[in-house]
Amino acid sequence: MCITMDRAALSLTVFGFLLVWSVSGLNKQENEIDIYSFHINSTVTSRYAITIITSRVANRLNESKEVHFQVQIPKNAFINRFRMTMEGKMYDGVVKEKEEAQQQYSQAVSRGESAGIVSSVGRTLEEFKTSVTVAAFSKVTFELTYEELLKRQLGQYQLLINAQPMQTVADFKIDVYIHENPGISFLAVNGGLNTKELANAVTITRSDKEVWVNFYPTREQQTNCDVCGPTGLKGDLIINYDVERQNPSGALQASEGYFVHYFAPTDVQRIPKNVVFVIDRSGSMSGRKIQQTREALLKILGDISEEDHFGLVTFDSHIDVWNPELLPASEGNLQKAKDFVRMIRDRGYTNINDAVLKGVEMINRHQRERSASILILLTDGAPNTGESDPIKIQANVKKAIGGKFPLYCLGFGFDVNFEFLQKMALENSGRAVRIYEDSDADLQLQGFYEEVATPLLTDIQLNYTGARNLTQTTFSHYYNGSEIVVAGQITDNSLESLQTTVIAISRNSNMIYQDFVFTKDLAGVLPQHENFIERIWAYLTIKQLLEKEVALSGQEKEKIRGDALDLALKYKFVTPLTSMVVTKPQEEETQVANKPKEGEKTQRSHRQQSPPNTVVSRIIKGSPRKGQLSKTVPVLKKKARPLYAKDMTPRVSPIPRSFVPLFSSIKTKGPHSLFANGGVVLSDSAARILQPHRHPPLVNGVRFLISAPNQRKPLCYDVPAASKLCLLTDPSSDFSMNGRLSSKGFKHIVLRYKTNHSLTLNTNNIRYSDGLNHAIFTWKQGPTNHETASVSLVIRNNEVDVTMGSIRIVFFRHKKNGETFLWPSVQQQPTNQNIKGTLGTANLEYEELPGSVIKIKDKQEMATWSNTTDYRRSSAPVLGCWLVPFQLVLKGELTEFTVSKL
Ligand SMILES: *[C@@H]1O[C@H](CO)[C@@H](O)[C@H](O)[C@H]1NC(C)=O
Ligand SMILES: *[C@@H]1O[C@H](CO)[C@@H](O)[C@H](O)[C@H]1NC(C)=O
Ligand SMILES: *[C@@H]1O[C@H](CO)[C@@H](O)[C@H](O)[C@H]1NC(C)=O
Repeated sequence: MCITMDRAALSLTVFGFLLVWSVSGLNKQENEIDIYSFHINSTVTSRYAITIITSRVANRLNESKEVHFQVQIPKNAFINRFRMTMEGKMYDGVVKEKEEAQQQYSQAVSRGESAGIVSSVGRTLEEFKTSVTVAAFSKVTFELTYEELLKRQLGQYQLLINAQPMQTVADFKIDVYIHENPGISFLAVNGGLNTKELANAVTITRSDKEVWVNFYPTREQQTNCDVCGPTGLKGDLIINYDVERQNPSGALQASEGYFVHYFAPTDVQRIPKNVVFVIDRSGSMSGRKIQQTREALLKILGDISEEDHFGLVTFDSHIDVWNPELLPASEGNLQKAKDFVRMIRDRGYTNINDAVLKGVEMINRHQRERSASILILLTDGAPNTGESDPIKIQANVKKAIGGKFPLYCLGFGFDVNFEFLQKMALENSGRAVRIYEDSDADLQLQGFYEEVATPLLTDIQLNYTGARNLTQTTFSHYYNGSEIVVAGQITDNSLESLQTTVIAISRNSNMIYQDFVFTKDLAGVLPQHENFIERIWAYLTIKQLLEKEVALSGQEKEKIRGDALDLALKYKFVTPLTSMVVTKPQEEETQVANKPKEGEKTQRSHRQQSPPNTVVSRIIKGSPRKGQLSKTVPVLKKKARPLYAKDMTPRVSPIPRSFVPLFSSIKTKGPHSLFANGGVVLSDSAARILQPHRHPPLVNGVRFLISAPNQRKPLCYDVPAASKLCLLTDPSSDFSMNGRLSSKGFKHIVLRYKTNHSLTLNTNNIRYSDGLNHAIFTWKQGPTNHETASVSLVIRNNEVDVTMGSIRIVFFRHKKNGETFLWPSVQQQPTNQNIKGTLGTANLEYEELPGSVIKIKDKQEMATWSNTTDYRRSSAPVLGCWLVPFQLVLKGELTEFTVSKL
């Protein structure tokens, strides 16, 4: 089954010399402006995502060229670093106060040399683009970093990564790593980049608390898929996930003097709501918009809960109500309301003032105990009849609502005065949402309704002892599927514990959630982002200050603005108040990156007229260039503002069932210590470790991990040290890979492909031969790539990325306890039946039976819960795994997987 081949040894003796390949020397089919490496690395820790995009580009021409860097990032993110590296020099963007940046560079601006380089594209993304002139036969590296706190919506967090390098790339990688201490309960990888054709370019590995998603498409795959073309692939990788919530009082994390508290109880009954929809039917709504609105309303009425009460107001210059009082959502009432909706026709002007006040009055007259009132306004235009001064309307509405319930404003299309809606919503503890005029507008409307469809708590107030500089701590409503996040500073580092108290009103009682946590137990943080909780705090604080600022005026506004600015400068975030100044090497040219305003139309200056998604290379003639200036209006983001509705003094009631922490990864003391020790999960895993096992770990063995994509726990098995293993063979593509083990990993690995190619890796160097030419590389080499028709090698510090036909393997060189060894990580392999070797087992499925028994197909064995290091990643994380005999996973005896000679 496994064969030893000696062809490479032969050809090496025939040509007794070695060539050291230069970066581009033998490259045949490459672009003149060659993006030879494009990496996106996203690390999510406790919902905070830090993403780094690195693009390495070579100008392979004998004259200088303009090289563009153009990427799209989520609107919700703040850019926080941009760096260009050329000829050993680094050019870093500098974050400055917006006005200062504009003034300082106004000379450049007046010469037309400065350009706004971030613009808004579509619903969720912003585009960052810049360019630089690269000398003949030179290279440039662009690196952009952005950060965002993932927001829970409809029960999930979503990480969206857009990739469109605009040409095929030899070394294309997206690496996502998610670490959530409470455990990951749900994971789905979607988006254009995870389609059938690209499925084998995506690998997903997960353990209880961690997820790795790696997307490594070959050049061929980058041109052969739904979202691919001759200019490479273009699309999104979307990762949706949710976390475990075993502790109803929420999850706390702290490090370096900051904490964050995620509060999203699930074990709560829904609260009946009183909802009034105020619907614009002015002339501008005619056609598809009014039709989509009718469809969405019919659907929403179909979903409304029986115990809810509802009302409908339609308006143009004239206000109509379906019924003057709110009515229960009974079958009969819903039928009548649907008939009313079907008759909504467009006509007349837009009297927002009277319509909203009508809705407010209906809710105010309809007070129900233990219910949640919500007012939803849908409009597509600016007020132009009745009271049409936005400031007066805002004042009228604020006074009428009096802080009693939230107002949500849905702005349909781009003719609305979105700032007006935003201010009105934020002043009334709601938020404004843009509905994009598109074929799915009805779904957007329904999607928004779904977010607020199920109130679980009202009048939520979160308190922390021993903390200050807290982000928003009062919220009017908590809806199912969302999450309340509070961050703050721990006042006293010698403080031994942090106490959290959340009081809120639920359907049946006043709730108090209390937790008491030792600060020393709030660990579990990745070393590379030690201060990420501080960054979460800064990110949230800036977002909330910017929202607060919208609803304020005069000195108060200036104060809030100043606070937000100080933080944005300290943490180097590009926000509506700050800009990033990028100074380029040639001609002292400067660009200023501003955060665009929500809904800002993209203006294209002449230098941006190049078709999007193509790398433009143009000879620089040294003439000044015209650029685009973006406006300096702040972006306003949506979030509920504090609402002090009722006397919040909790009437102390018997502890409801949901107070009992079932299990928490956090140790608690005081009244709850009783429960904390009886942790369900703890006793479960303790029991497993005590199980007797038939196959003890090998004393002198090397442990291998096998990920089972559909299962949360990986399997592992031991192989005796010093074995010579057949790792992977594919007779149909004439490929083989064998390796010799030492006591920790591999000392020597040999790959053979077709009749002529061979690649030999040992701990000192990497040797490649195509039968005629030979090359030797060292592991410490800087980024280097070599490519022929069917073989590609990319060498980076302690890492070699090899593609041979449809097989892609990354080799890592690790060092542990003084021993250096290699480890292969198969990224892609064909799915045919003839694949053999210890690493040939892809898509393993197993079943976990009671009593620590693992079943694969018809075989089952006792397993032991163990730990091992995952050397298939450069970071070598330690994972838990089910240790099973190798016979179970490899489906054969060891002799079938060993070779006598590499
Ligand atoms: C991704 O970024 C993290 C944090 O900067 C780093 O530790 C990790 O090694 C990077 N991963 C890759 C594959 O570059
Ligand atoms: C660049 O190379 C082309 C041919 O490949 C040649 O015609 C041209 O003169 C060269 N230009 C310079 C500046 O050397
Ligand atoms: C909240 O949503 C989850 C699904 O996301 C659902 O299982 C649960 O029943 C909902 N709770 C209520 C009270 O509707």
